[in-house]
Amino acid sequence: MSTPAPLLAWPEDVASLRIGFIGAGRLGQALAWRLAQAGLKVVAVSSRQEAQALALASPIQGCACLSAQAVADACDLVFVTTPDSVIGATCDGLTWRAGQAVVHCSGVTEVGVLAHALAQGASIGGFHPMQTFGDSHAAAQSLPGCTITVEAAQPELMQGLLALVAGLQCVPNRLPAGMRGRYHAAAGYTSQFINALFDQAVRLWQSWGATEEEALRALLPLAQGTLSAIQSAGVARGMPGPVSRGDLSSIEKHLAAIAPMGPEMRDFYKTLCAVTVPLARQAGGIDEAQAQGFTDLLKA
Ligand SMILES: NC(=O)c1ccc[n+]([C@@H]2O[C@H](COP(=O)([O-])OP(=O)(O)OC[C@H]3O[C@@H](n4cnc5c(N)ncnc54)[C@H](OP(=O)(O)O)[C@@H]3O)[C@@H](O)[C@H]2O)c1
Repeated sequence: MSTPAPLLAWPEDVASLRIGFIGAGRLGQALAWRLAQAGLKVVAVSSRQEAQALALASPIQGCACLSAQAVADACDLVFVTTPDSVIGATCDGLTWRAGQAVVHCSGVTEVGVLAHALAQGASIGGFHPMQTFGDSHAAAQSLPGCTITVEAAQPELMQGLLALVAGLQCVPNRLPAGMRGRYHAAAGYTSQFINALFDQAVRLWQSWGATEEEALRALLPLAQGTLSAIQSAGVARGMPGPVSRGDLSSIEKHLAAIAPMGPEMRDFYKTLCAVTVPLARQAGGIDEAQAQGFTDLLKA
């Protein structure tokens, strides 16, 4: 395995880097637009569908739609922003060179998936924004302020990636090696598992004939209030609800009301409720005897 040649003198020269994207989906578009808005040179993009590449390139002056190999040839820093399952194959299918950097944006995929580029002398890294990229335009707006996890074995690349994080007005996070699975699972609790919680709540509303729209109108401000409480008081002290107040009878009523919805919904409610008991204890809202009362009820 050859030693990578030093990259450009990052972060000083970060503005002179020629940046390219392979894969022009939700994340690729949002990230490319934000980097261009930050004054960085996004010069080339490749995607299998021309329309996708054009969607990324058209708002960026001087950004060309090229083949994947042409992007690799033209750029100092290449973001491989394909789906996780094809990052490795995409990298393996191209010729890389010393002095350039190849970076993926997956949370769970190890950086080693880019080993082919490393073997050819390129530096390799990870650049994972902790944000949900549903619609590219909305995602681009939501990027400033979010955390980006950076990983690179080569110090020059790490400096460069940290400079990009700063340029995007984001917060850098470094991850110990081997923690990507756990790290990405943690992210799931505050992204897609929120959808799972809303699904349960909406199904309860629908049981008396309300629509999902009506449910969300009521539930979203509630969720936002909870997030604000967590932000100001922390996970335990920012937790609302009957368990935090030691109100056992409300939980009894909930369980009785949910029972006709089926054992799956009841058991999920019980599992979630059991997790709130030690949180309420930690916050000082209930004493040991009250905690035991909740535990006994939920085990019954
Ligand atoms: N979306 C998120 O919320 C989010 C958040 C953080 C990180 N990420 C990471 O960002 C990366 C991209 O995710 P995404 O959500 O942007 O995916 P996406 O919207 O599905 O876009 C993927 C892009 O890759 C292209 N592509 C698909 N298969 C390909 C292949 N075999 N070869 C080359 N290009 C291919 C697709 O366009 P063509 O069909 O035109 O090729 C598409 O433009 C992933 O690593 C993901 O884990 C995503």
